[in-house]
Formats: sequence, structure tokens, C-alpha cells
Amino acid sequence: MNTNPIGIFDSGVGGLSIWKEITTLLPDESTIYLADSANAPYGDKTQEEIIELCIKNTEKLISLDCKIIVVACNTATTNAINILRKKYTIPFIGIEPAIKPARLQTKTNSIGILATKGTLNSLLFAQTANKYMDGIKIIEIEGKGLVSLIETGKIHSPEMTHLLYQYIHPILQNNIDCLVLGCTHYPFLIPQIKKITGDTINIIDSGRAIAKQTKAILISQNTSNNISNSSPAHKIYSNLNTEIIKTLLNNHSLNFDLILEKF
Ligand code: DGL
Repeated sequence: MNTNPIGIFDSGVGGLSIWKEITTLLPDESTIYLADSANAPYGDKTQEEIIELCIKNTEKLISLDCKIIVVACNTATTNAINILRKKYTIPFIGIEPAIKPARLQTKTNSIGILATKGTLNSLLFAQTANKYMDGIKIIEIEGKGLVSLIETGKIHSPEMTHLLYQYIHPILQNNIDCLVLGCTHYPFLIPQIKKITGDTINIIDSGRAIAKQTKAILISQNTSNNISNSSPAHKIYSNLNTEIIKTLLNNHSLNFDLILEKF
């Protein structure tokens, strides 16, 4: 039994899509979320830069007594998780584009993957894609600019509508029936993406699977919080802008402390 918080970090607000799934599946657990928005987007940085930022975030979460760290960012996971696991003893959960679930679901044998340049160019992504690619056409699309628009609160802007159409419409010619969202920011765009894809394409993200995996690891390591009437605390840190977080979590029922702080 361990009442310490679950630590979660992302290059910015995208990992809140994962935070929502974790707090829903594990209502007794406390959480600390780091939005490293001052350094977003990670997807355009070098691997060395991404590793350095991940180390900074990890050390902050360890200093806040977290018991496990969820790297709620595909770009950070695919570029840095192996290094983090070698460097620290705390358990890490990573997130990667859901190629395997898409492989299992596709009937047309053609899937699209929307992700950042940093994820698509990573070795870990190439290895996973190769593993499941047999007989499958994978169309990779770099979502250039999408993270920055989300980080600056422009989710419903004409620029966003334009970019999404420019990226997604052409790949519909390839008979895809699954579109993998390989970036934790993108689930916030699902209603707009559906306007382009219609209802016939499955949009797949990894949020729920990550929450389930977090639960399984806590149980297997005997570090869940088992106190049934506990009152979990949730702290969300941003090093740039807390307004966008308020907007994104506007309808969320959980109480959380929002902290603007340099880290
Ligand atoms: N949420 C991050 C991801 O899942 C966004 C990366 C970025 O900052 O470019 O990849």
C-alpha cells in the first residue's frame, strides 16, 4: 500500500487526455501532472534535447515523492524512455502510437498514423511499426503545428481546421479504416477530426490502455492506494500558462490545484 501520488508529465497540456483516463480508472489515487508547456513542442527537438527535458521532469516528479511516472507523451516515450529506465529505479509507463490495436482492427489493411516528427523519426516507432507492418499499409502523417495551436488555445481556430483538413483529407484516398492518434494532444481534436473522416473510420488513441497498464503495475508492485474512503489530491503544474488548462478541464468534475511555477 502506498498513498504517494502518481506522477505524469507531457510537453504540455496533451497528457491531460491521459490524466483524465487515469483519474477515472483509479479514483483513489492522488496525482501530480507536469505540463512542460514552456518547452513545447518536443516533436521538433533533437533526441538529446528531448532526453534532457525528460530528465528534468522526472527529477521534479521524484522530488515531489511520486511512486510511479507516466510519460504521457509519445514523443518523449519513443525518444527517451529506455534512457530513463536505465537511469532511475522508479517505474515508468510510456505511451506509443497504438499500431498493434489498429493492426487487429483493420479490415482494409490500411491504417493512418498522425504523430509528431519526433515520434515518426524515432527508432522505437520504427521497431514497433516493423513488427506489425506485415501485409499492412501504414500511412504516416506528421501533424506539424497542431501541438502549438493546442498549446496556445487555438483548438477551434480556422488555422486548426485548415491544417487538419490538409493532413487528413489526402490519406482518405488510401482506403484506411483506422486512424491512430500518436500524440496525446490529439484526442482534444477528435470532434474536428471526425468531421473530416466521417463515422466509418475508427479513431484510436492509447489513453484508456495506459490507465489500465498503470493500474496493473501498481497492483503487481503492491503500491496501489487501497484506502477506500481516501480523499485523493490532484496537483497540476504548468511552467507557462494555466488558462489553457482551465479551459480544457472546464467540464471536469474533479477538484485540482493549478500551480504556475518554473521547473
Ligand atoms: N503530447 C506530445 C506527444 O504525445 C506532444 C509532443 C510535442 O510536444 O511535440 O507526442
